[in-house]
This record gives sequence, C-alpha cells and structure tokens, in this order.
Amino acid sequence: MTAPTSTAAAPGTAAGEAARRRTFAVISHPDAGKSTLTEALALHARAITSAGAVHGKGDRRGVTSDWMEMERARGISVTSAVLQFDYRGRVLNLLDTPGHADFSEDTYRVLAAVDCAVMLIDAAKGLEEQTRKLFDVCRHRGIPVITFINKWDRPGRDALELLDEIEREFRLRPTPVTWPVGIAGHMRGLADAREPGTMLRCTRAPGGEKAAIEEALTAAVAEAEFGEEWRTATEELELLAGTGAAHDQADFLAGRSTPVFFGAALTNIGVRLLLDAVVDLAPAPAPREQAGGAAPRPLDGEFSGLVFKVQANMDRAHRDRIAFLRVCSGVFERGMTVTRAASGRPFSTKYAHSVFGQDRTSVERAYPGDVVGLVNATALRVGDTLYTGRKAEFPPMPTFAPEHFAIVRPADIAKSKQFRRGIAQLDEEGVVQVLVSDARGEQAPVLAAVGPMQFDVVRHRMEHEFSAAVKLEPLAYTCARRTDAEGGAALNRSRLVHGEAMTRVKDGEILALFPSRWHVGSFEREFPRSPLEPLIAAH
Ligand code: G4P
Repeated sequence: MTAPTSTAAAPGTAAGEAARRRTFAVISHPDAGKSTLTEALALHARAITSAGAVHGKGDRRGVTSDWMEMERARGISVTSAVLQFDYRGRVLNLLDTPGHADFSEDTYRVLAAVDCAVMLIDAAKGLEEQTRKLFDVCRHRGIPVITFINKWDRPGRDALELLDEIEREFRLRPTPVTWPVGIAGHMRGLADAREPGTMLRCTRAPGGEKAAIEEALTAAVAEAEFGEEWRTATEELELLAGTGAAHDQADFLAGRSTPVFFGAALTNIGVRLLLDAVVDLAPAPAPREQAGGAAPRPLDGEFSGLVFKVQANMDRAHRDRIAFLRVCSGVFERGMTVTRAASGRPFSTKYAHSVFGQDRTSVERAYPGDVVGLVNATALRVGDTLYTGRKAEFPPMPTFAPEHFAIVRPADIAKSKQFRRGIAQLDEEGVVQVLVSDARGEQAPVLAAVGPMQFDVVRHRMEHEFSAAVKLEPLAYTCARRTDAEGGAALNRSRLVHGEAMTRVKDGEILALFPSRWHVGSFEREFPRSPLEPLIAAH
C-alpha cells in the first residue's frame, strides 16, 4: 500500500507539514472501547507511557473539570480531548468524540474538523445505534472510514457475518486488510491480506499496558501451530479476494469501501496495524470548501481555521473558555492577529494552547490539520471562521433537530443576573439551544436539546459554575421545523394545530415546535403556503 498523499511539498511549509498530518476521530457506540483504543493508539505512538493516562482511568492522570464529576459518576465521556502525537514521521491529531447518544451534536461538530474516521465495532454486538448515526454523518460529510472490529479476545460474532452486516446496512464494501486467525474469544493472531501466507502472532505484553508482542510466522509454522484455525482464516481470505474485497484507495476515499482491521484494544492487539493504516491510508488535510462556492484556499495560502467546539471551565485550575480551532490553510503562529469572519473584527491569538488531556502547553505554530485551543475566546462561536488576509468563510455548521424542550427558570429569583449570564454562555457553547417565544417572553427561555442528558449538564453547570440553580419544566413538543415569520404567526394563531413558534436567540431563525409529526402534517394541510423546513435529523 502506498501513501495516498504526496509528501513532495517542502517540510516546514504549510503544504509540506499538511502532507505529514493525519487528523481523525474514533466513532463508536458507548462501551465499544473507544477510550481504551484511544489510549492504546497514543501508547503505540509513545505519546503516553502507560495506558490510562488519557482518560484518567484507574485514578491516574486525566482530564478533570467540574461537570466531568457527573461524567465520571455516569461512566461516560461527555467532553473532548485532542491528542497530538508523532508516529512514523507523521503527526497524528486524534480528536476524541463524546460517546453518549445525547451528546451527538457535539460529536457531529468534531467530525467537521477531521479528515478520516475510525469506526470501532464491538465484535459481539456489531453495528449499534450510535455507530449508525455517526456513520451517517461521515457519509454526509464525505469522511472516509476505516473499520476496527474490537474485542476479538472474547466471544463474539462470526467475522464474515460482521462484514456482511456492514455491507448490507451501510452499502459500504468492507475490504479486510487483516483477518483474525481463530474465532472471537480464541484469537491466535492476524493474517494479512496484503501478504498472503504469513501470519502475525500477537501476544499480550505482561501487564497489558504495553504494545503487544508481534511475531511474524511463515505459513508452515502457522499451519503446524494452529492447523484448522489457520486454514479457515486463509480460506476465508481467499474467498474474500475472489469477491473483489481487496482494498482500493480511490474507493475508500470516495466512501464506497472501508478497510477493515481486527483486534483487541484492551490487549493492544492489532492496534499498531490500525495506526499504520491511519498513516498509510487516511487522507492528509486538503484545501477546504468555502461558503458560497468560493474557491478553496490553497494549503500554502494565507491562514484560515474553523472553530468546531467551544468549551468553558475545562478544569478547576483554569477557569476559562477554550475555542478549539482546526487550522485549514496556511501557518498559524501564536500572537498573530486574525479576523473573525462573522463580525469582521480582529482577534488576538496570544493565548493559544495545545490541549492534551489536562495538560496545556503554548502552541507557537500550527499547520493545516492541527487543532489549537484558544483560551479566553469569549468572542468566538462554534462554526466561526478565522483568517488572515483575504476573507475566508467556511459553510455554516449544521445544527441538529432538537427533540426535547423545557422552560428554564432560576430557582432563586435573586440570582437572575447569574442565570442570564449562564444561559447565554451555555447557548454560545452549544451545550443547548436557547429559544424565546413571543408568548413566554425572554424571562422564560426555552431550552432545546437533541437528547435529555443535555438538560442534566445545564442543571449541573448552572448550579456549580454560575451559582444559579435552575428549575426545568418540560414541554410536550418533540418536532422542530424551520419556518418564516408568517408561518410562525400562523402557528401561534392556529387553534386546531397545537404548536408554538419560537425564535432561536442566536441567529433569529424561527422554529415551529409541534408535539408530534402528525401535528406537523396537519399544520401543513391547514397552512399549505407556510414553509416548514426540516432541520438535520440527529438520527
Ligand atoms: P467507550 O469509551 O467506547 O465507552 O468504551 P471503553 O473504552 O470505556 O470500554 C468499555 C469496556 O470494554 C471496558 O470494560 C473496557 O475495558 C472493555 N474493552 C475495551 N476494549 C476491549 C477489548 O479489546 N477486549 C475486551 N475484552 N474488553 C475491552 P469495563 O469493564 O466496562 O471497564 P474497565 O473497568 O475495564 O475500565
């Protein structure tokens, strides 16, 4: 397999450095092993010295913050860390994505900042709900996907059956690069489709926190040691080769096929091969499409970057607000003054950091594909474009259709000021959307969420960060549609169709809220001339 991108551009230039970069995320259903795999990848790349350092498992060093207490209590990951590490002369940027379904909106935004995704599948469970949703977003955004079938060290499903499921459900051709010798739960090693007749025996290193021990075996040795299991693996690989399941780089980049790897993140088996695949197969950053059909800015051109995430109070020691910026073109240099496309105002980048778990170090330079944390970036919003020189602007980030709505009020009326500040902040960060209706007024904003857990985060953060405990009163709406002022007025006037028009605080867009799809249909019949536009569905 050859590297998909040219590294001919001079090192040190934006294009040369971009060619060395691979910016990717792991997408999976909760519990498939994403945290474990992230640690294993970083461990292989020597970014950390022992597993557990990234996510703070086992009370080792980790990301901490106020609302992460809640995340720890629930055993889920709701915030994102960005890991950068060197591997085989390349720079890998791994953007961690929140796993819980309720945080899908956050995850979708992270996917706007990557060039490739690793789809992690639990060998026993196959495709799961969140995998499906995230895969849809990758397809929608044209992000190529590498598949890793995890937990092969314990009983699971048949390998061919798992491939069949991917092909059937995703209309995506699986092209196995490695193939397990031994069924799930009896993993002997991996056969490599690129080198028929060889086997890699993989053994867990003592303690399980080090890279697995790998030993290349000839076919004769594999046959002698593993007999039937080795023969089955080679037969299956031959069968697959006969059906045209060989990796094809152009098909992969076009989203028509996915190279498949097998392994066990927990014991680091197959992880090195996956990391090699990220280097060899994943695309390097490319010039990015601009809003309104403007020509993409060349990688070697002036600086431009996209804010894909804004997060406040990442940990107690740093009470601040970080905007995560993906560099899209040119060279980012700390201290440079950039322009925020939305306002045309200058923004100083004096406080630029790389964020690695809880550690921060100043970033002096960053290249296309890199992620920079801009500290105290109160003026920045998710979806913002920053640039130098000629104006650049990337297409707006999609917002996802909220399905849960609740009126929010301060528990203590004396805390109204803190309440307003907190709600505005959470809206800007995109933790929830904040809506206001004519009927209820600004004193009783309505929170709109993709999943109900977003409300828990609001409750928790309002109380602990903004000292303004809140009361939430759920509203019986489940569907939101975009409409215009006339459509909103029609909805508010209508007695036959239950619903309510709300204005999104941030951009003045009018949303029509309905209790069910059935109500949407009856509104459309009653007011055929009022436009109702669906928002992007989160599933
Ligand atoms: P997530 O971030 O996708 O939610 O998953 P996470 O890595 O936390 O893994 C979920 C569970 O699956 C963990 O077990 C983890 O140890 C286990 N796991 C991950 N990869 C593998 C693997 O390759 N093989 C096996 N056998 N297990 C794996 P847990 O008991 O829930 O948590 P823990 O106490 O081990 O941390």
